[in-house]
Amino acid sequence: MTEKNKCKCGLLSCEAVNAKDGDNRFVLKALPYGEDALEPHISGRTLAYHYGKHLAAYIDNLNKLKTGTPFENLPLHEIAAKATGGLFNNAAQTFNHYFYFEALQGNGEGQPGERTRQLLEESFGSVEQFKEQFTQAGATLFGSGWVWLVLADGKLKIEALANAGTPLTAGEYPVLTMDVWEHAYYLDTQNARAKYIEHFWKVVDWAKVEERIACF
Ligand SMILES: [Fe+2]
Repeated sequence: MTEKNKCKCGLLSCEAVNAKDGDNRFVLKALPYGEDALEPHISGRTLAYHYGKHLAAYIDNLNKLKTGTPFENLPLHEIAAKATGGLFNNAAQTFNHYFYFEALQGNGEGQPGERTRQLLEESFGSVEQFKEQFTQAGATLFGSGWVWLVLADGKLKIEALANAGTPLTAGEYPVLTMDVWEHAYYLDTQNARAKYIEHFWKVVDWAKVEERIACF
């Protein structure tokens, strides 16, 4: 599989995410790190609920809702891009969560890779200005949603999308996302979303962002 093909589904872990059981049901793939790997920034308790309960529930609902529809045999990113209503919500939430968890790490705060840094500077002026704008987008998104960094026409742009919003519906492929649903942080920082966003920057896996950018 070439680099380009690897990212066609929008995720580096494309095959694992699209693995099905004998009943054509998507299966929750294993968390790519230990449940307490992101501590002290994101607690093991949050990960246990966020990954093991919330994501698992979206996958369960996705499996129920896709059965008997024309989407039944499509890969995850195509269901998220084309479905509507409850099926869209659960497919998009499944994709969005896998995408979020795929680019987190607990080995200390990192820095963007060379290509990422170059694109961030071209698009936002500096890495710091990008982080400020992304943080601001997360802090001001009303209610539940996702903040995305998307590569389009050779430039990076920030999109704040409500609820299960995903760039896949616009035919765009993201390179980073931040979950700002309350379930992402309530156990750790209660209502203080700003504090969660500070912690988010400590656990971003910039190597994964670099790898995603290299796929385009
Ligand atoms: Fe979430």
